[in-house]
Amino acid sequence: MKAGYLQFKPEFCSTDANIKKIQRLIEGKEFDLLVLPELANSGYLFSDFEELNKASEEIPNGKFCNALRELSKHHSGYIVSGICEKAGGIFFNSSVLVSPEGTIYSYRKIHLFADEKKWFSPGDTGFNVYEIAVKDTHVKVGMMICFDWLYPESARSLALKGAQIICHPSNLVMPYCQRAMFTRALENHVFTITANRTGKEARGGDELEFTGGSVMVDPKGNYLLEGSLDKDECEIADIDPAEALNKDITPNNEIFQDRRTDMYSL
Ligand code: ACM
Repeated sequence: MKAGYLQFKPEFCSTDANIKKIQRLIEGKEFDLLVLPELANSGYLFSDFEELNKASEEIPNGKFCNALRELSKHHSGYIVSGICEKAGGIFFNSSVLVSPEGTIYSYRKIHLFADEKKWFSPGDTGFNVYEIAVKDTHVKVGMMICFDWLYPESARSLALKGAQIICHPSNLVMPYCQRAMFTRALENHVFTITANRTGKEARGGDELEFTGGSVMVDPKGNYLLEGSLDKDECEIADIDPAEALNKDITPNNEIFQDRRTDMYSL
């Protein structure tokens, strides 16, 4: 199957501009599964709840979700994207999995990073796995968002539920994650796709620089795709998701069967 990432610099608080950028970058691309960055509809650096309210939408029928549905249908491929979600009077840093038929599943970020705690409620969906139909096969995919990577429990929970591909929309500012995804992929024998935004945001006296460098890693820890640090781009590669079903590290070690859950409670 064809899987990959789209990385770009979202325009702060402008869903329309972000939809246009995504449409332009995706044009002519063939994919079965494409992952976009965290908060791709809104940008990141909020300074008040009015902005957050303006930049967010309800899932599944907001403007950004509808645009993703159109793109998914047009390209006959699944799309995972970060999205700034409003739900009643509260907000979640969420991601959606959109199918070409228009179905939308969502995940709400569990491990909030730094000032995100001011704006977003902690995710309450748990880590779930969904089957996507790719040609004649079914492939299990899961979602986690950015800082979730630092908690090995996130990827492990998804892998224990059968995820073959972990989709990982990100807005990374620290330099560690892209290298660490080697371990998340290897220790779970899964594919991981980290789609990380690029560019700077400077607002309300704060400034953040996002590190780009999106990565797709295979179950043996090979880097199949490595993005540039600062360019808008959409990169796709062929993968065989069945590789993630084999959890053997040696002829005598199957990763999950060898877990000693009598010795630890994680
Ligand atoms: C992050 O979780 N956006 C670093």
